[in-house]
Amino acid sequence: MNFQMKTWEDYQDAYQKSIEDPENFWAEIAQEFKWIKPWKKLLEWDFNDLQVSWFKGGKLNITENCLDRHVEHKPEQPAIIWEPNDPNEDVQVLTYKVLHDRVCRFANVLKMNGVEKGDRVCIYMPMIPELAIAVLACARIGAIHSVVFGGFSAQSISDRINDSACKVVITTDGAHRGAKLIPMKDTVDDALMNCPSVKKVIVSTRTRTPISMIKGRDVWWEEEIKKVTNECPPEVMDAEDPLFILYTSGSTGKPKGVVHTIGGYMVYTAYTFLNVFQYHPGDIYFCTADIGWITGHSYIIYGPLACGATTMMFEGIPTYPDAGRFWDIIEKHRVNTFYTAPTAIRSLMGFGDEYYKDKDLSSLRILGSVGEPINEEAWHWYHQEIGKGNCPITDTWWQTETGGIMIAPLPNITKTKPSFATLPLPGIQPILVDDQGNEIDGNGVNGNLCIKFPWPGMIRTTWGDHERCKKTYFSAYKGLYFTGDGCQRDEDGFYRITGRVDDVINVSGHRIGTAEVENAINMHTGVVESAVVGYPHDIKGQGIYAYVILEKSDHDAELTKRDILMTVSRIIGPIAKPDEIQFVSGLPKTRSGKIMRRILRKVACNELDTLGDTSTLLNPEIVDELIAGKK
Ligand code: WTA
Repeated sequence: MNFQMKTWEDYQDAYQKSIEDPENFWAEIAQEFKWIKPWKKLLEWDFNDLQVSWFKGGKLNITENCLDRHVEHKPEQPAIIWEPNDPNEDVQVLTYKVLHDRVCRFANVLKMNGVEKGDRVCIYMPMIPELAIAVLACARIGAIHSVVFGGFSAQSISDRINDSACKVVITTDGAHRGAKLIPMKDTVDDALMNCPSVKKVIVSTRTRTPISMIKGRDVWWEEEIKKVTNECPPEVMDAEDPLFILYTSGSTGKPKGVVHTIGGYMVYTAYTFLNVFQYHPGDIYFCTADIGWITGHSYIIYGPLACGATTMMFEGIPTYPDAGRFWDIIEKHRVNTFYTAPTAIRSLMGFGDEYYKDKDLSSLRILGSVGEPINEEAWHWYHQEIGKGNCPITDTWWQTETGGIMIAPLPNITKTKPSFATLPLPGIQPILVDDQGNEIDGNGVNGNLCIKFPWPGMIRTTWGDHERCKKTYFSAYKGLYFTGDGCQRDEDGFYRITGRVDDVINVSGHRIGTAEVENAINMHTGVVESAVVGYPHDIKGQGIYAYVILEKSDHDAELTKRDILMTVSRIIGPIAKPDEIQFVSGLPKTRSGKIMRRILRKVACNELDTLGDTSTLLNPEIVDELIAGKK
């Protein structure tokens, strides 16, 4: 690939060109890929009426770019190295040739089970090679994948399946997660009680736990692949055909299905992967994310494979068998680039140096961070203790909606600064605005982070509801994409993301909408009303704080709390369980009946000095009760 920046001058030139002549800038990059038919119009866009298209008229298949292209000249190079949950189990190495064969074979299985171009396929699997194969097999035949993170509940799965009317579900019997066995198929069975669109379930074997297999609906992966060949020509796709749907939480309502399209997403994830990780042929790259989130889609599967890289997949968790597991993996596989989340860093930092001091981490060259703000202490520990002071940290800011990394330092090129994502990548035009939408010029300022010009990897729509996409992202500030994040631009023009300014909480790098958690809590019998806010949490970044009004006051508080937690687990999943629940007799409301979240946040965060004026509330007396009842 001919688009790697190598020096500060390269970056400045690329950035300049991307602003002055975006069409030619992206055309030159896109030409590096294999197109079945060239595009007719590089870019058309309108942020007011939300229409964005890149590479219009171009025909391609992303798997031809991620697989066939590399099989031609390096069939034996590892594409995926898979590290199992149990370190004593065998590692699997899938070369480009092997991965290509397995993807084609499984693509034929999908076809045999009735999946056609444009159909939606739900994938609910642990981090095993079959997950990557399933994703790529969908792309091979032009089916739209909707991966649901393995930690979500049956209810969440069925909501997602129904929203996009998935025809097929791909899952496993069970999953290994540390010492635990997770019953994946059972959860899928529960989800499917209420999913009329699903005709087939394809089950891969991982744990050999007993499961139910329903005649006519459920089939085994291992048996199906014996019935087909490994010949599967790539489906000819339009650049703007959807590649996948990925559900993500916002301020209001149920999670939205963010839609990414093939051409732009491919070009953008490959461009950003090659540059942000300064990938060189032969490097071993390890991203610890789960493929159930956008980071796994873009930077375990598509970006690395589009660049012909070697990407690792890890099935387990950082603390199994002990808190040295990541460092063991780095030593064992001689990992060069390591990309993880601040939550993992903070948690591993807390276990002390006995887990890494005797490990050989000398293969590391570049460290990455993603998903939430990284605090300075964690940044320095990562830099000194893991990188031994020699590895630049690339703090990458981006979102499910942006498809790929937007603001990040280029290792060994851009100066780094702890807790700063630093500078926008070429093609990205960030601006800060005040609450009225006026642009905030100059440096040394704070504001709401927006993007004013399209980039190839951006969201195109939300599945089944284009208006919602327009309203959520393009109507807060006219003509701008609004990120939902607050941001500082310092004296040097460097960007530092300060966190969400909307009703989204970032818990361990997972996005959770406060409204979603409130709805789940309100499902519990006996709950009258609830309000959920985020508060600072040492490890998770943010914790979930719930204020709950119960119908009766003579309850067993501990038991009721546990029941509420169980309810939230059932409705959303364990990741959305509140860390604190406070029972209250009322919530602070304005005279028009709106909950004053600002006050709830201040109390949860212990910022009592800056509570502000509470006298205009409908029920000012409630504030003292909130403060008194807080732990
Ligand atoms: C936050 C994850 C600070 C941010 C790729 C964003 C970050 C949300 C960073 C998106 C970072 C992500 N520094 N905050 N480097 N990266 N965020 O959709 O609030 O799961 O809006 O995408 O995570 O989360 P999402």
